[in-house]
Amino acid sequence: MIKSPRGTRDLFPPDTALWNFVEAAVRDVFRAYNFHEIRTPIFESTELFARGVGEETDIVSKEMFTWIDRGGGTILQEVAAEGEFGRSLTLRPENTAGVVRAYIEHKLWDRGLNKLFYIGPQFRRERPQKGRYRQFYQIGAEVIGPASAGSESPARDAEVLELLATLLDRLGITGWTLELNSVGCPADRARFNEALRKALGPVAAKMCTDCQRRVVTNPLRVFDCKVPEDQPIIEKLPRISQFLDEPCSKHFAEVQEILRSVGVPFTLNDRLVRGLDYYTRTAFEFTHGALGAQNAILGGGRYDGLSEALGGPAAPGIGFAIGEDRLVLSLTESAESVVRKPDVYVAPLGAGMNREAARLARELRRHDLVVDLGDESFRLKKSFEAADKLGARYILIVGENEMKADAFALKHLASGKQVTVPRGELAKRIGESGSL
Ligand code: HAM
Repeated sequence: MIKSPRGTRDLFPPDTALWNFVEAAVRDVFRAYNFHEIRTPIFESTELFARGVGEETDIVSKEMFTWIDRGGGTILQEVAAEGEFGRSLTLRPENTAGVVRAYIEHKLWDRGLNKLFYIGPQFRRERPQKGRYRQFYQIGAEVIGPASAGSESPARDAEVLELLATLLDRLGITGWTLELNSVGCPADRARFNEALRKALGPVAAKMCTDCQRRVVTNPLRVFDCKVPEDQPIIEKLPRISQFLDEPCSKHFAEVQEILRSVGVPFTLNDRLVRGLDYYTRTAFEFTHGALGAQNAILGGGRYDGLSEALGGPAAPGIGFAIGEDRLVLSLTESAESVVRKPDVYVAPLGAGMNREAARLARELRRHDLVVDLGDESFRLKKSFEAADKLGARYILIVGENEMKADAFALKHLASGKQVTVPRGELAKRIGESGSL
């Protein structure tokens, strides 16, 4: 038997209805905030993530699905002709780098401030567990544009955070915590890294091998360490909050002011540095108690230098990505409760009735009814069983007698009540709520 690759999942009905429910609600919220959808490729040049997300991050150093494009083992003529042969490609581990690449490639600054959202799969080779998969789904958004369009304003940060609070509330997710920090600008971080190096110097030898490497290459990443023995050392390290310069402190204070005035609660956490290198200033995560170890339901922040790092013009930006798998896990709503069951099961009875039933079903579906359709080879008992199993509200019998009379037996399955309804009145009768 061929099984799905480790860390990937098949999603089935009725669960998929819950995913659609979430996505529909999210699209509604994005509409209210004037965000529009962007779709970028699922694979990109490896270099994009190496430069964008950062070589020293766990994502880039350990978790990417990367391959050399050779046209499936043999050198395809067209691959060779396009000069793509031997190019390193990667399944996207996140979508921010792709959006910024698209921003630069298509000169999206001409549009002023871009408010973009995306919904789609991302790929990371992590150790699979509940809430952590190798193919997972993100619902994300990015606000990016020239500073003259207001992209740098703390008002944008606060708007994005308020949108998230609205979204979680609307989905009925209670008990979330917004953890907020500022990771400063590159100058702040250079001073912070220096202080970290100094503090880590005498103790680095006692830490895990990853941390020993980080101390040399990118000390900030020490905060990503999950090794329990290293935690007492990490707890005592200096914090970024002590290194923010005047403009960064002011920016962060203003974000907090707006959040307070719109009534979005938050907790300051100056250990939060996020696992990607592109962040500047505001960084945040929303956590949820019910999720266990993988408790970050979403994360995001500002990335004011990312466009330049990828060869583009200055383009301050802020965004977030929600782990859709985790969002669905934290919903109290059950999949059953959001599935729309068939309004009617159309049961053809006897030879030649399939085509009549198909015509009727077509008519009824035009009235926005959910219609399922049986088969003329089914005995009546089997049709009833099928309708029951589907949870249909009504069963409609389409037999020869009904055709002659142009009126049909319509039975309400829960109450067992049955009436004969002329063709022209069927849609109305079925559409009415309650029994017959
Ligand atoms: P991230 O924190 O790496 O940020 O991922 C965002 C969210 O994706 C996490 O909080 C989590 O819910 C979900 N997630 C990450 N890895 C997995 C996994 N293996 N399985 C299930 N869910 C997962 C980013 O990706 C940034 N691009 C967010 C961003 C957008 N920052 C600015 N703009």
